[in-house]
Amino acid sequence: MWYKDSVFYQISVRAYKDSNGDGHGDLRGLTEKLDYLQTLGVDCLWLMPIYPSPLKDDGYDIADYYAIDSTFGTLDDLKALVKAAHERNIRIIMDLALNHTSDEHEWFKASRSDKNSPFREYYVWSDTDQKYQDTRIIFVDTEKSNWTWDEKTQQYYWHRFYASQPDLNFDSPKVQEEMINVARFWLDLGIDGFRADAVPYLFEREGTNCENLPETHEYLKKLRAFINENYPDRILLCEANQYPEDVRPYFGDGDEFHMGFHFPIMPRIYMALKKESAEDMIQILQRTPAIPENCQWCMFLRNHDELTLEMVTPDERKWMWEQYAPDPRMRINLGIRRRLAPLLDNDRRKIELANSLLFTLPGSPIIYYGDEIGMGDNIQLFDRNGVRTPMQWDSTPSAGFTSGTPFIDLIGGDFSPAQVNVAAQMKDADSLFHTLQRMIQIRKAHHAFGRGTLTWLETNSAAVIATLREHDGETLMFIHNLSSQPQTFKADGQYLNLFTNESETLNELSLNPLSYHWYKKL
Ligand code: NOJ
Repeated sequence: MWYKDSVFYQISVRAYKDSNGDGHGDLRGLTEKLDYLQTLGVDCLWLMPIYPSPLKDDGYDIADYYAIDSTFGTLDDLKALVKAAHERNIRIIMDLALNHTSDEHEWFKASRSDKNSPFREYYVWSDTDQKYQDTRIIFVDTEKSNWTWDEKTQQYYWHRFYASQPDLNFDSPKVQEEMINVARFWLDLGIDGFRADAVPYLFEREGTNCENLPETHEYLKKLRAFINENYPDRILLCEANQYPEDVRPYFGDGDEFHMGFHFPIMPRIYMALKKESAEDMIQILQRTPAIPENCQWCMFLRNHDELTLEMVTPDERKWMWEQYAPDPRMRINLGIRRRLAPLLDNDRRKIELANSLLFTLPGSPIIYYGDEIGMGDNIQLFDRNGVRTPMQWDSTPSAGFTSGTPFIDLIGGDFSPAQVNVAAQMKDADSLFHTLQRMIQIRKAHHAFGRGTLTWLETNSAAVIATLREHDGETLMFIHNLSSQPQTFKADGQYLNLFTNESETLNELSLNPLSYHWYKKL
């Protein structure tokens, strides 16, 4: 159960490092940066899609599941990357988009060519667009319906995302088998598992909201059984943007997903920081059901998408938009397209505090590339591209990302490569990079982070969060002061300060504004 103790790191290969000067990051570039990732200390990389794609949804519109887009390199490059990563004890998982393909996938081209095509059943076709009316639209800014009319064959096809991403029909046994074959292909190349994209939407049934259906779970269990049988030790990470009680079934009896993102805790961390109160966080974690022993939550602060506000109430969403996205350009769909550092006013204390919460809540943390150095965003860029800009390796104009012309504008202003870059932070012992590196080191030395029980301790203020995490005879205590004012916390006993490695006798603890404290009970 390596994934319980691992720190994950999400990478856009296109934006990470270009090895051949064409302006696009690639697999060889990423391989060159494994030493950096090893120095940071992360254990498992999640690579966003690298399959051939017309890029209408940044690669989540897959045109061929059995190849790598030539911009990123070759299958041999992937094998070399996996080998080099494994030599450094770094694992690699890839994105697997099961729910839909690109409309440029051969299956869809054949499916839409003729009603009698053997591939017709690969997708969801209908004479009417009135079916499944209880299904919400996800990309509300661009899509008016989940059905799109096909002129040639005079039927509608179903899609939960862009119209250029037709949903596969999982009622077809052929589709079910195809996707297991896809999984086999990549697992045979040596990757360590998948982040499974958009899994709640695999099946459609009239009279339901077409999410989290029993048929979906049944299929996912088949996928898991296939992995267990042939590839023990590889993992499936579930992307189900749902409330905890709806994500819970994706763990099954420990026979479905190994891991699942905890979506609802994420916006509540931002609420906590702004309100200086942990109440919403505590509520959602209390509402989170227990999961089987071989399962793990994956905790995150940001990713490549908008900071999603699907798992909050309409009032909370409005409040979050007012607080964190005052400029309408910062908003997209039901979320906020900004990166961690700008969201937190580029205030080092808030950024560290948020990361400390991420690391100390139950689950395994995932860091979004660039957030370890506090990269910025560009809200002028199309769709969610503003949080997918090139990694800033050094202070040169193209940030050491490419010797050519970058595929997209780099970040300017306060967050430009001259201000924010890896080279400078590696030289500076007090940099954000080194703080995160230290958090990772400490987490690795204590299994209670990934495996421990959670107890909320009494505090004298809603702004002070104190938790105990216990595992195998070890007790860790974490204290966070969300307030911009000093606070106190009553503790007593002998503790090891995990950051200084010094033993301290605690009684009345003074907490600086926006501070965090990691202790081990002695
Ligand atoms: C979730 C992915 O994270 C997102 O980037 C994508 O647009 C949708 N799934 C559709 O694949």
